[in-house]
Amino acid sequence: MTAAIQRRLELLEPHNATQTELHPDLNRAHVRFIGLGKTYNGQHGPVAALHGIDLAILRGEVFGIIGRSGAGKSSLIRTINRLEQPSTGRVLIDQVDIAEFDEDRLVALRRRIGMIFQHFNLMSAKTVWQNVELPLKVAGVPRETREQKVRELLELVGLQGKHTAYPAQLSGGQKQRVGIARALVHDPQILLCDEATSALDPETTQSILGLLREINQRLGLTIVLITHEMAVIRDICDRVVVLEHGRVVEQGPVWEVFGNPQHEVSKTLLAPLQHALPEELQNRLRAQPPSSDASVVLRLQFTGSASEEPDLAALFSALGGRVRLLQGGVERIQGHALGQLLLAVTGSSLGTEDLRQRAGRWAQQVEVLGYGV
Ligand SMILES: Nc1ncnc2c1ncn2[C@@H]1O[C@H](COP(=O)(O)OP(=O)(O)OP(=O)(O)O)[C@@H](O)[C@H]1O
Ligand SMILES: [Mg+2]
Repeated sequence: MTAAIQRRLELLEPHNATQTELHPDLNRAHVRFIGLGKTYNGQHGPVAALHGIDLAILRGEVFGIIGRSGAGKSSLIRTINRLEQPSTGRVLIDQVDIAEFDEDRLVALRRRIGMIFQHFNLMSAKTVWQNVELPLKVAGVPRETREQKVRELLELVGLQGKHTAYPAQLSGGQKQRVGIARALVHDPQILLCDEATSALDPETTQSILGLLREINQRLGLTIVLITHEMAVIRDICDRVVVLEHGRVVEQGPVWEVFGNPQHEVSKTLLAPLQHALPEELQNRLRAQPPSSDASVVLRLQFTGSASEEPDLAALFSALGGRVRLLQGGVERIQGHALGQLLLAVTGSSLGTEDLRQRAGRWAQQVEVLGYGV
């Protein structure tokens, strides 16, 4: 066995608890972080931005990174193309440690990895065409090949009519389309997106997400995406990791993390997607039944672990009495039904605990919120 193969096998061997939780098929790992740490030399001493990150990003997936501001998201994504150098641990791309790359291999690596940014980073004095063509010129690609490539890419991103426009003449969404075309000039295998839709309105965000999804599916690109917009993760990502103070606190398929977040940070980040109890309803709730005909208010959560949407007729008849829907809805993420229903039950022959248990046949989590006045 050669030393290189030996080393590869060692890397695939789980050597601690966190690693055994990684996706079982590590051979499909496109990017791997092993015990990755990053400490910056800040103005007032060292700033520890990442600690002991063990993660695998699989080939062809859309992988989301979320976390509060300063959690280390950008630091992490920037180690993939070595815009940041890890302080400890390793980054493997296609099982190869990129720390050992010399300047030439680093240039080649960066061509295999496209990146797009929140503020597009376009050159204002160059046209759309020239912006996309520039990295090809720098790489010494012959004119004919360049022209074909730029034409092809501008068509892919839907800017065929804008070749001679300058960035100032474009909308935010069009600028990001130029950014995407430019990121794809060297046919990368990985696309890094750091807050790529944060400067866009919701409609434009949707169109850029649609484009990213198309690129992911048509070109088979692995996409790593940082965003503060949870709906973006929900709409496009396969798996998601939650960072807090430079550590991984939660990771998994999007439907699982969104349907049943475990960590406090994940719950807080995902709260805007959950329907909060309306204040007016909250004010009408009591901890004890105010009268014998008070309604019991239940919150049913669907965490996506059941394959089917709830059968409301069966649920209502099992609860008995009169069931009113106060609020709620179910949406589908990656084919899983997720959501919640707030129900007020009056006149049922069942006691509160029995109601809770019955409802539990249809929902993965049931909570008694109180009693309606
Ligand atoms: N060049 C640097 N020098 C010193 N400290 C840095 C540097 N870059 C980042 N940091 C610090 O490292 C930590 C992580 O920063 P990072 O930019 O990775 O966070 P983030 O999750 O991307 O935040 P945001 O959501 O605000 O973009 C922060 O405490 C930040 O202040
Ligand atoms: Mg950042």
